[in-house]
Amino acid sequence: MNIAVIGAGHVGAALLRQLHGRAERVAREAGEPVTVLRAAVREPEKPRDCPDPVFGYTRDVGQLLQDARVDVLVEVAGGEHWLPALSTFLRSGRPVVTANKALLARHGPVLFSLAREHGAPIRFEAAVGGAMPIIRILLDARRVDHLSYVGGVLNGTANFLLDRIAGGVPYEAALEEARRAGLAEEDPSDDVEGLDAARKLSILAQLAFGTAVPPEMWPRAGIARLSPRVLQAVLHEDERVKLLAEAWRTEDGITGYVGPVILPASAFLARPSGAENAVVLDGNPGGPTALMGLGAGGDATASQVVADLVSVARSRRAGVPVDLLPAEPATILSPRLRARLASPDARTLEEFSRRLPPLTPLDLDTGVVGPLDAGALLALAASADVRLLIARRGGGLLGAPPVPL
Ligand SMILES: NC(=O)c1ccc[n+]([C@@H]2O[C@H](COP(=O)([O-])OP(=O)(O)OC[C@H]3O[C@@H](n4cnc5c(N)ncnc54)[C@H](OP(=O)(O)O)[C@@H]3O)[C@@H](O)[C@H]2O)c1
Repeated sequence: MNIAVIGAGHVGAALLRQLHGRAERVAREAGEPVTVLRAAVREPEKPRDCPDPVFGYTRDVGQLLQDARVDVLVEVAGGEHWLPALSTFLRSGRPVVTANKALLARHGPVLFSLAREHGAPIRFEAAVGGAMPIIRILLDARRVDHLSYVGGVLNGTANFLLDRIAGGVPYEAALEEARRAGLAEEDPSDDVEGLDAARKLSILAQLAFGTAVPPEMWPRAGIARLSPRVLQAVLHEDERVKLLAEAWRTEDGITGYVGPVILPASAFLARPSGAENAVVLDGNPGGPTALMGLGAGGDATASQVVADLVSVARSRRAGVPVDLLPAEPATILSPRLRARLASPDARTLEEFSRRLPPLTPLDLDTGVVGPLDAGALLALAASADVRLLIARRGGGLLGAPPVPL
């Protein structure tokens, strides 16, 4: 099977190394050798820590798309602008493997429908959960189960930072540490503001509920404004805070959010440490199922691209039909949540309380506010510069929809 690769950065270079270093094993599993014909990059002359493709590097992505020798296109470059390139390739009836969460979160339904129409699978295990094979599990689960909940710790960078902040390290120092460990980019906004987790939640919700939810539809709060002092003020001893991204079905539609959540220390979702991720699925008839693993990193991510390539090779030979179900329309609702507040001073809290919608419950002694529409609550806290942690009840796996404290 001949492949072309767009991107040879963290993930792409690790992919080229793995396909070279594990060539025999991959060929045995795939049933045929997997050969990298060409790779497209921004700067073809740049030295790279990986073996070169057979015909080297090019800047010309169009050349890859038109090359009839290419059986499968792998896109590990990132960014929503790859939609036309991937669509063109799928239209030619050839499979695509991608790790691009930004693209899938927004255009997943378009790509899935092209894949069905042209009988060309699109695989994207690497887009969510690093080394955890959550996409494969969801695709299988949806065929037999009625899933009612999907959620978890979906961003390793934020999880690492929260661990350090809860351990007393100030946000900026924790961020520097994450950068030195290769866990945070120079501009960490997508990770710390929860956008990366929101994109992954959109992909998981698409698969779990068959519903397209653009990432910006989830009410969202990040972790950039949290500090050791805030966490100490708000958390009880047997509690932890995690940046959760969760979505569930209600009778009226699909709802969910992304934000820092208080969890009992004993809960499964409180467990991932450092750059780990964890996901819980819930539904009938299986009940909650949990998965935990390393959430990011070139090698962990590339290993899932390799697994996708093996799967594509096998299904091509066996003539397995494309297994992506069509998206169904659904109403997207903002959940009602409670939160515990912390603020630099009593005056800020008081100012915040004045801006709350009439009749919103607020206990200034315990700092507990709500229930209130999550979008309104998070926006109000941000504009009033009040720090909050979402309160959520339940232990064990934490699957069913959150019950506010
Ligand atoms: N890193 C992770 O841990 C991780 C985890 C899960 C998913 N992902 C996803 O994997 C994808 C790649 O991530 P990454 O960390 O490997 O990114 P990266 O290190 O920034 O690499 C991006 C690669 O794409 C190439 N590229 C960028 N624009 C291009 C263009 N217009 N034409 C051709 N090539 C272009 C770059 O070329 P040059 O090398 O010449 O600049 C580079 O090789 C993203 O979608 C990301 O969301 C990454």
